[in-house]
Amino acid sequence: MDLQLANHVAVVIGGAKGIGEAIVRGFAEEGVHVAIVDVDTGVQSLADELAASTTAQTLSAVVDATDYESMQMIAARVISEFGRVDHLIYAAGAGSGKYGFPFWNLAPTDWQRVLDINLLGAVNAAHAFTPEMTAARQGTVLFLSSIAGQIGSQTDPPYSAAKAALINFAQCAAKDLAQYDVRVNTICPGMVKTTVNESVWKAWREAQPECQRLSYDEWATTKIAATTPLNRWQEPADVAALALYLASPRAHNITGQTMNVDGGMVMHS
Ligand SMILES: NC(=O)c1ccc[n+]([C@@H]2O[C@H](COP(=O)([O-])OP(=O)(O)OC[C@H]3O[C@@H](n4cnc5c(N)ncnc54)[C@H](O)[C@@H]3O)[C@@H](O)[C@H]2O)c1
Repeated sequence: MDLQLANHVAVVIGGAKGIGEAIVRGFAEEGVHVAIVDVDTGVQSLADELAASTTAQTLSAVVDATDYESMQMIAARVISEFGRVDHLIYAAGAGSGKYGFPFWNLAPTDWQRVLDINLLGAVNAAHAFTPEMTAARQGTVLFLSSIAGQIGSQTDPPYSAAKAALINFAQCAAKDLAQYDVRVNTICPGMVKTTVNESVWKAWREAQPECQRLSYDEWATTKIAATTPLNRWQEPADVAALALYLASPRAHNITGQTMNVDGGMVMHS
């Protein structure tokens, strides 16, 4: 299927690893020029690799998305180097690193950084990049939220709350930007084997008595069997496939939606 994305320009924030990296790779394979933005310095080698192996031009920047001035600077750089921005993907994310069940296992001070990365960084990105899209009267925005944001997952309350707020912000932004033909959607992954996912297990494990501690694979297998009808991991490429479709003109009538790539863990009516 030709997604008609060749020569578009995408910015992927949180693009160094995991789901963001899979989206970067998917775009580059479609001939989309990609700006890869992350706090992780791995963005440089990924950008070099893709520039050498695909027709995509790449740009990389080590930037903390929670710093609005830095986001504005990278937006200006992308526009100066590529001349346009068609797609913004916010895939940065992190948990508290603590086991938050019950919520008073965390202190209120554990919340700020989680809200900053999962919610306010996305707000920064929207402010920095969408003016270019509204001026061009076209574009797409995609936020990576989580099914945790739909079910009040007790594992990490600040993470759940940030992801719920992100879904809500995406709906506000979708309504505001529709008049400019800019579409905004949210993908909620289920269980994907990445740093973020493993950190949830680590926090859980530390809270268990020694005799009840499971390995990462044992924990995940048990959890997936209990929660996921398709009874398997989701892969970064599964999420990337939907991300690319949502960016494409084939999805031109889809905005303000929250879509789960979760093996059926949460089903909408
Ligand atoms: N893995 C899962 O099971 C799962 C489930 C639901 C939702 N998600 C969400 O999917 C998204 C992608 O996560 P992932 O699973 O690929 O994890 P990951 O840890 O592999 O990737 C997250 C990326 O975000 C980057 N990042 C973190 N803080 C940043 C900041 N302040 N500024 C810029 N970049 C920053 C990290 O360096 C990393 O490259 C996240 O929003 C995560 O919350 C993941």
